[in-house]
Amino acid sequence: MSEIKKRLSTILESPTYHTEEKLQKICHLLDQEIPYFNWTGFYFKNGDKDELLLGPYVGAATDHTVIPFGKGICGQVALSGETFVVPDVHEQDNYLSCSIDTKAEIVVPIFKNGENIGQIDIDSHTLDPFTDEDREMLEWLCVEVGKIF
Ligand code: SME
Repeated sequence: MSEIKKRLSTILESPTYHTEEKLQKICHLLDQEIPYFNWTGFYFKNGDKDELLLGPYVGAATDHTVIPFGKGICGQVALSGETFVVPDVHEQDNYLSCSIDTKAEIVVPIFKNGENIGQIDIDSHTLDPFTDEDREMLEWLCVEVGKIF
């Protein structure tokens, strides 16, 4: 297991932190360790509503604190339940801009008992930065995050 996964596991398994604190620490760790992760945050389904609410994040404040299902990359992942890698956000029609600096984005869903309950969203100021390893690590992370809900 990679060093970063070990550190993420340590946060997730901590008996002292609450879920929100764990998610916040995960955002900080990813933001610190991966230079091209320039906004890292979580969105979760708002109860029975077909919308996402912004959770813990690290990065610039965003206007998109509530995202209806289907809107933007995040809203599309809420419906598809599949990882969405966007190498160049300018090529996307259904995209919600958080920052003019953002060039690329990856969104990975989080499941609990088969239900798509949320996602991790990462924006990058670098064009096409995300590797297969990033995707694999984030998909692993989201499985682990699903277990703490
Ligand atoms: N770009 C996202 C919106 C969230 S911000 O990136 C934080 C989208 O298109 O869904």
